[in-house]
Amino acid sequence: YKRITVKSLVDMKANGEKIAMLTAYDYSMAKIVDGAGVDVILVGDSASNVMAGHETTLPITLDQMIYHASGVVRAISRSLVVVDLPFGSYQSDPKEALRSAIRIMKESGAHAVKLEGGKEVKDSIKRILHAGIPVMGHLGLTPQSIYKFGTYTVRAKEEQEAEKLKADALLLERIGCFAVVLEKVPAKLAKEVAESLTIPVIGIGAGNGVDGQVLVVHDMLGMTHEFNPRFLRRYADLHAEMTTAFENYTKDVKNKSFPSDEEQY
Ligand code: KIV
Ligand code: NA
Repeated sequence: YKRITVKSLVDMKANGEKIAMLTAYDYSMAKIVDGAGVDVILVGDSASNVMAGHETTLPITLDQMIYHASGVVRAISRSLVVVDLPFGSYQSDPKEALRSAIRIMKESGAHAVKLEGGKEVKDSIKRILHAGIPVMGHLGLTPQSIYKFGTYTVRAKEEQEAEKLKADALLLERIGCFAVVLEKVPAKLAKEVAESLTIPVIGIGAGNGVDGQVLVVHDMLGMTHEFNPRFLRRYADLHAEMTTAFENYTKDVKNKSFPSDEEQY
């Protein structure tokens, strides 16, 4: 795939090729992620946590999401760029949802939007889809509803919640979403959902029976070393690498070994 489209992702699922997705929130990071061959870049509202330092995803604004997304879009040449609709930008009515999605598409140049929820947000999703904007769903642990649930623990362990999740996933496919994220649900349930859909299911903490995986880039790089959920695999220890670099720089400045004769004009 020279350029990933929403169609490529559905084809990948049909061909049994797993989809690799990571978050990015700025130009420099997105340039590296795209260059490495990651299929989908999510400009997640997790930017509220990892970029801005908020405790939840709720405070980030539509303007801030557009700012993050614009930088990412300027960096990419292959990846599909999906942007989260932030809390408060789509829940009140479908028209508002469409307006928010249009702003993201026009002002950032992204390729698709993602929003949280199933049946509750059905009309908003339909409205956005009718405007020709691809929508990715997000079920299971939905961090924008953290105050409703009270914890970030595994979702849909009980029968009733599992049944609702399965019904919501089918609904999202039926109304036209091109993919759905499943966050922190039992692997067995996630596999069942993935097998019941033709659109790809991208998991985070949802086991390996799904069609692709997503991680928050700062987490998988080991920058957020105090965050340790079971599903997180760290592919680097950037916290240690960066700390060493900053310490060495500080030491060199203090002891006057930086800059050297060669490093000046
Ligand atoms: O905001 C985000 O990073 C996400 C992923 C964890 C799926 O929604
Ligand atoms: Na998100």
